[in-house]
Amino acid sequence: MELNKESVILRDSYGRAIRDLRISITDRCNFRCFYCMPKEAMEWQPKSEILSYEEIITLAEVFVSLGITKLRVTGGEPMLRRDLESLIERLAKIDGIEDLAMTTNAHFLRGRAEGLKNAGLQRLTVSLDSLTKERFTLLTGRNELDRVIDGIDAALEAGLDPVKVNSVVIRGINDDQVVSFARFAREKGVQVRFIEFMPLDNGKVWRREMVVPGDELRRLIDEVYPLERVVSGNLSETARRWRFADGAPGEVGFINSVTQPFCGHCSRIRLTADGMIRTCLFSTVEHNIKALLRSGASRDQLVEFIAATIEKKEERHHINDTDFVQPLRTMSCIGG
Ligand code: GTP
Ligand code: 5AD
Ligand code: SF4
Repeated sequence: MELNKESVILRDSYGRAIRDLRISITDRCNFRCFYCMPKEAMEWQPKSEILSYEEIITLAEVFVSLGITKLRVTGGEPMLRRDLESLIERLAKIDGIEDLAMTTNAHFLRGRAEGLKNAGLQRLTVSLDSLTKERFTLLTGRNELDRVIDGIDAALEAGLDPVKVNSVVIRGINDDQVVSFARFAREKGVQVRFIEFMPLDNGKVWRREMVVPGDELRRLIDEVYPLERVVSGNLSETARRWRFADGAPGEVGFINSVTQPFCGHCSRIRLTADGMIRTCLFSTVEHNIKALLRSGASRDQLVEFIAATIEKKEERHHINDTDFVQPLRTMSCIGG
């Protein structure tokens, strides 16, 4: 941990400043995206293991006092948690938060987007992997494409800005829809980001051949809608961003986690719904801050635990190494 005159910065042992905390608030989801959760009955965590809003706020306050400025609420599907708006409201009020975002499948957004915005949510990311009904149903196990698109419209109408759309691209399954997604970005004025499929799936179906390199997708789009690079000063950003050369609204981005890893500037840590700190998406160990919190630890003890945990943050993922070991927990528990 580094003490500046004005602020505290958490740094890991590789010198990376940790600014970004992703809080998964539930492991449950109403969809069954095959790359994330299996279709069979899932074993949910018992309620008693899930952090209460009170506990989440206590931990978030400690993290923010240590230099976290970006919070992302995620899941599972965070909108399944009761009275989510009250959590958002309390997170938004924490002194030091500069950016408060949420990742959702958009199923429950109509009727609630405005309330979330009023509670203090700034922006939203929607997971959407197909623009045709048949493929959407195949991918998610639910015939709800229209409702998700309507949810995106509701978010735009509520003034959540920007609205991003995350699309995990899988060879042979939805890689033929990239140009349609680029058109969608232009028509709706949203940022569509294509994500390389990572080995974090519950069904263990991931194979290297299923990964479509982001550069390949970009060339496909560029042939139809010429692109210009958007240079952002934010080194820890996951996406390489491009705008449309003809000035149309919207953007496309490429999250090339497998073919062009971005671990060198990683500023992210994660808190799972059951109160474990994960220092990397691909961590094989977790750090049980819930146990400490529930034992009645003081703020200083929590700070010490967090600083020691961040020291252990992994240098990088090992997807491309022969000794790669897939973490036991999948994206639905870790929170994308
Ligand atoms: P913003 O730029 O703040 O909007 O967030 P983000 O780009 O991190 O976006 P988001 O949380 O929507 O994450 C998008 C996807 O990027 C996730 O679903 C993951 O597939 C991937 N991703 C996010 N964080 C990491 C990370 O730390 N490591 C790796 N390898 N992939 C990540
Ligand atoms: N590889 C890449 N991204 C994934 N997500 C879920 N599983 C995977 C995976 N195996 C992403 C989804 C969603 C976010 C929560 O996590 O796109 O937007
Ligand atoms: Fe950070 Fe781990 Fe993601 Fe690499 S794989 S960017 S180290 S969280």
